[in-house]
Amino acid sequence: MSIQTVPTTPFAGQRPGTSGLRKKVTEFQRPGYLENFVEAIFLIVGSGGGCGLVVGGDGRYFNREAIQTILRMAAAHGVARCLVGRGGILSTPAVSCVIRKRAAFGGIVLSASHNPGGPDGDFGIKYNIENGGPAPEKITEAIHAATRTLNCYHISDCPPVDLDRPGSTRIEGMTVEVIDPVADYAELMARLFDFDAIRALFARGFRMRFDAMHAVSGPYAQAIIEGMLGAPGGTVVNCTPLEDFGGGHPDPNPVNAAELVAHMNGPDAPDLGAASDGDGDRNMIVGRGLAVTPSDSLAIIAANAAVAPGYAKGITGIARSMPTSRAADRVADSLGITCFETPTGWKYFGNLMDANLATLCGEESYGTGSHHIREKDGLWAVLFWLNLLAVRGQSVEEIVRGHWARFGRNYYSRHDYEAVDAGAADALMEALRARLPELAGRTLGSFRVAEADDFVYHDPVDGSVATHQGIRIIMADGSRIVFRLSGTGTEGATIRLYLERYEADPARHGLDTQAALADLAAIADDIAGLRQRTGRAQPSVIT
Ligand code: G6P
Ligand code: ZN
Repeated sequence: MSIQTVPTTPFAGQRPGTSGLRKKVTEFQRPGYLENFVEAIFLIVGSGGGCGLVVGGDGRYFNREAIQTILRMAAAHGVARCLVGRGGILSTPAVSCVIRKRAAFGGIVLSASHNPGGPDGDFGIKYNIENGGPAPEKITEAIHAATRTLNCYHISDCPPVDLDRPGSTRIEGMTVEVIDPVADYAELMARLFDFDAIRALFARGFRMRFDAMHAVSGPYAQAIIEGMLGAPGGTVVNCTPLEDFGGGHPDPNPVNAAELVAHMNGPDAPDLGAASDGDGDRNMIVGRGLAVTPSDSLAIIAANAAVAPGYAKGITGIARSMPTSRAADRVADSLGITCFETPTGWKYFGNLMDANLATLCGEESYGTGSHHIREKDGLWAVLFWLNLLAVRGQSVEEIVRGHWARFGRNYYSRHDYEAVDAGAADALMEALRARLPELAGRTLGSFRVAEADDFVYHDPVDGSVATHQGIRIIMADGSRIVFRLSGTGTEGATIRLYLERYEADPARHGLDTQAALADLAAIADDIAGLRQRTGRAQPSVIT
């Protein structure tokens, strides 16, 4: 066993996006591709001065190989201890939880989240810092810069570690500890939520279906919902993580989790439907015949935070990404706390939570979470809803309608134009930017534009500034049209159009969402030339 220095040359395009470096598996399989990126990570973050490094992934194709490479490189860089989930499995929230609980100096998450897996699918790698959250841009930019000048990497030539056997082994001077991927996380959930109340709910005959979409949340949901909370066997479906997620697209939204939504609309619908994504950080909540939008879910959780023991003392603030609907802002107003508006990407919440300015955070992209960790957390959101349903004794629909009646309804939808020519997408955004000055004050259909800008975020904690975070057209009545380019795609560009309309009148809370937003969609098409520039007659996905 010895440490090798292997000559290499840089690969173009190793800049982490919204959430780490995501590429096709075939790209990661190019000799030296993964090694170069991992070398750059260790060059920037160092060896942790005796603290541990957490390593795990969502079990997708290439997960195990990547982990072996990372362990051998960590040892070569002098890391003292690596904690790896058994089978190479750790959900993204579990990585965050383990980093914090075991005072590790950081973690490496192997996942492309909700992107399809398998040999032709996607793979990804992301570095998390000692607070358990995604590395801030300062670090990811430094890692990217390092990838551009590498001429060698360091790796031990030791044989592979047995990832399926719990316990410790050594590589060079480093200890590798294979840990139970669920235990630390489950213990944290049991402290945050009223497990006795949820157990009593299931004992009363409450039924739910949790669709793990053949991805990483399966073992967690099974251990907690069926094991600790006593839900009947079969409550968690598609619960074995598969390398290709069963050929599906493990993204919990009404399009990709259509089977669950159909079940919730059917005659045998249980009381609650829920799903999580590839790496377990996203969630979808569905009642009988009603899918709760992620923006509404954040607002409802915020309005009811005190039902859960972990939040009984109240919340200090809320944060949402800019394109997320402003439903949570109304709750924040009523509580007399601030609702922060950040760019898309969970990493922007980290500072706010560390400074105790925000307790709850959420994004329209099916992400919700709190300061218990520094990632969004799919199962956490589901457990919150279970806790809420147990305490209130109402249905999901009653809770949602009651919330609208009290705060008003923010009709909300996202229209995606996927795999568009990157040049055409950039040109569309450029043209919109150029039009911003003349939009303010204009009347578009029945709306008057109050404000039109390219969103800039000033981090109130560290003073950093993020520019070009999406075009916002804000109407005088609070309705909004937002355009941005996705930072997580791997093919061409994805244009996201976000539409929001506020309705105070309860008599008008029962409209079809797309119908309620049709005027705004038409205006958006008109000012951006969406159809004409993309050559698409309609969005590829509507959520
Ligand atoms: C990931 C990130 C989220 C982000 C989402 C959509 O899930 O963790 O923070 O909201 O991707 O990002 P995109 O850039 O594709 O809209
Ligand atoms: Zn995810």
